[in-house]
Amino acid sequence: MCGIVGIIGDEAAAPLLLDALKRLEYRGYDSAGIATVDEAGALARCRASGKLRNLERRLGAEPLTGTTGIGHTRWATHGAPTEDNAHPHTADGVAVVHNGIIENFRALRTMLAANGATFHSETDTETIAHLLAQHLARGEDVKTALLNTLGALEGAYALAFAFAGRPDLLAAARVGSPLAIGLAEDCVMIGSDAIALAPFCDEIIYLEDGDLALVGRDGVSIYDRNGEIQSRPAMPVPMEVSVAEKGNFRHFMAKEIHEQPEVLTHTLSHYIDAASGELRADNVPIDFASVRRVSITACGTAYYAGLVARYWFESLAGLPVDLDVASEFRYRSQVLAPDELALFVSQSGETADTLACLRKCKEAGQQLAAVVNVRTSTMAREAGIVLPTLAGVEIGVASTKAFVCQLATLAAVALKAGVDRGTISPDRARTLVGELLEAPRLVAEAIRLEAVLQRTARRIAPATTALYIGRGPSFAIALEGALKLKELSYIHAEGYAAGELKHGPIALVDDNVPVIVVVPHDEFFAKTVSNMEEVAARGGRIIALTDRAGAAALGDALEEVVVMPDAPAFIAPIVSAVPMQLIAYHTAVLNGTDVDQPRNLAKSVTVE
Ligand code: AGP
Repeated sequence: MCGIVGIIGDEAAAPLLLDALKRLEYRGYDSAGIATVDEAGALARCRASGKLRNLERRLGAEPLTGTTGIGHTRWATHGAPTEDNAHPHTADGVAVVHNGIIENFRALRTMLAANGATFHSETDTETIAHLLAQHLARGEDVKTALLNTLGALEGAYALAFAFAGRPDLLAAARVGSPLAIGLAEDCVMIGSDAIALAPFCDEIIYLEDGDLALVGRDGVSIYDRNGEIQSRPAMPVPMEVSVAEKGNFRHFMAKEIHEQPEVLTHTLSHYIDAASGELRADNVPIDFASVRRVSITACGTAYYAGLVARYWFESLAGLPVDLDVASEFRYRSQVLAPDELALFVSQSGETADTLACLRKCKEAGQQLAAVVNVRTSTMAREAGIVLPTLAGVEIGVASTKAFVCQLATLAAVALKAGVDRGTISPDRARTLVGELLEAPRLVAEAIRLEAVLQRTARRIAPATTALYIGRGPSFAIALEGALKLKELSYIHAEGYAAGELKHGPIALVDDNVPVIVVVPHDEFFAKTVSNMEEVAARGGRIIALTDRAGAAALGDALEEVVVMPDAPAFIAPIVSAVPMQLIAYHTAVLNGTDVDQPRNLAKSVTVE
């Protein structure tokens, strides 16, 4: 989603802003721009559609001077990704960059136009510049004008402003979308996240919803919606975000796939004492004995982690589970009872729909727990209970290591639920904990199948449609595999419950359609094999992902059988997630798509 940076310091702002924007590229964008204010107070901007290198080229030809400025990478929402729609937007000496959506922008635009404003873009953001400019033109001081402007906006926003004639001032504000202030000896910065700020700053202040920050060369003053001064803690820059580099890998995604054994170990050590084999109950501060139902809400890959968890909560703890994608949950008229646990799963902890659901459940008085990877995120701050995944910074838009760490966390939480509710015996719990601790080793083994899966990718790359099927937890992994393939390689892919195929999708099957079957030798094996036979009978090109026992049972009649590591059924979904990632990764590499920043996608979806 859109990236925001701002700087006020002693050095030329434009090159620093460009560097900081490069660190935000991972969020996904389709145009970019920078505005600076020079020492004489002149405001100038430079914008370009497409990648940052286009903006860089422009800046080379027409450099921007000044040590104060704001920058932006835009992920188009209102209006195409053209130069005219790129941020910063300006009006009468005000420049603004924005992440989010202003829902009442049409009404504002009509009102502003009636007052004489002329618009040069199709964006909702330009209304903010005009609104602020009109308040300033009435003689309001900057703080009052900003508060009045923000008060008129409906929707979600993170904003940064620069002002002609004020090289000593920037402003920042947020509702819904995240925004942070970075502090260094020789500059103060504004940034969408710590990753943008890390190399330049020593400390970070995370703005709260409703905050307005006036940023000067010597520091920052933060006000709430009523203009009352607020104090927000400054935290050291998290070490992990400073080292978000590709290393020897061609893509962040490849690096992140290979990091999985290590980050799984970190995550598991938070929930399990490996020496004693005991769950660290204190790190899951939920008394499941008094929970009547669990609701799990998430988006995309995080939702599929929730889908696997539903099988675990049901089978290990006998708990009823409601599972929803957040964009649906937030508008349903469901009954939210106080004795339910509302569980939210999110890598970023900022996904707008999931966050809205968290707030909905909070209002209903439910117990909230957030499985998040970014511990400074809004969800982590607003949920009563934080269940961290320790995957480290994930840069690739396609979630990989965060997904397996979400699974590991949810597996440990489901085990704790079973222990609390007495639905699994201490002996059984110990066995399952032991199995979970095997996950990093088995994931490492699955990664070693990379060369085999690269060959599989060669078969899939020419296809225009692929189907993924599985049963039980493998159904969730099939859905995840299909999502990975479509988001990375742009091949149309669908995941289905294997038993559902004959209710419609089997009509798609012909000898051009690869059908990837996730079929470990578990309780569902025989049923899934029947579904495979239905596909084979229609000429479908089956690629079966199974284990040794499964491979032996399948024989050699199939086009391709990939033998995954033998994993206990409990943790098999964690292990079979890896071939899904590697198949999608190598198919994308073969098809030449942008692996780390696939078209149209954003890493952190902070708009509805
Ligand atoms: C994953 O590969 C996707 N790019 C996407 O589905 C993602 O999982 C989803 O947007 C949720 O994000 P979150 O985990 O940060 O909430």
